[in-house]
Amino acid sequence: MKDFIIAPSILAADFARLGEEVDSVLEAGADIIHFDVMDNHYVPNLTIGPMVCKALRKHGVTADIDVHLMVKPVDRIIGDFIEAGASMITFHPQGSEHIDRSLQMIRDGGCKSGLVFNPATPLTELQYVMDKVDMVLLMSVNPGFGGQKFIPSTLDKLKEARKLIDESGYDIRLEVDGGITESNIAEVARAGADTFVAGSAIFGKPDYKAVIDAMRAELAT
Ligand code: DX5
Ligand code: ZN
Repeated sequence: MKDFIIAPSILAADFARLGEEVDSVLEAGADIIHFDVMDNHYVPNLTIGPMVCKALRKHGVTADIDVHLMVKPVDRIIGDFIEAGASMITFHPQGSEHIDRSLQMIRDGGCKSGLVFNPATPLTELQYVMDKVDMVLLMSVNPGFGGQKFIPSTLDKLKEARKLIDESGYDIRLEVDGGITESNIAEVARAGADTFVAGSAIFGKPDYKAVIDAMRAELAT
């Protein structure tokens, strides 16, 4: 069985106490930290940038930081995130004029690379860059906001992506992002996901460990 990764999205954390929030969620059993970057251009919201990533590293966070760029264009900010201590950097194909080059920039910077597909975006580009991605991220909500409802058509798309990945023979993780809860995580895993982003389902509850434990119990079923 592949190991499952739980990636809390700090979008739903208390930004006024971000360092503590990240420490707490890692202590509660999170595997990595999902870091949502929105630019009020590619998506209609504005969040955090490389300075905040750097600050978390300075604070002492050693866990992987999974940077999800909802930004257009991506190339300049990729370099800034590499310097700021990102571990993985994923971006939407719509954010890059030259997808192959942007993926290569990420790997050249020592980070894991990935492409993100919106709910209604086909996986078309993926087949040409299978050798350059470490991760495929399927959005199960439209990007821009936390707390939205899981879009059910993602399940079929996960199956499609899982098939492409397995047939490629490359070691590529399949991540899902948006509306993941302890109630749907098992079904999402059965459809092929191995890495689960969850924002409001974790940070919206007082006991992070209880939620993460419940998610792991669901994944074990
Ligand atoms: C949405 C972000 C997600 C979001 C998930 O654009 O990419 O990572 O924070 O939040 P929930 O889990 O609340 O849907
Ligand atoms: Zn995200």
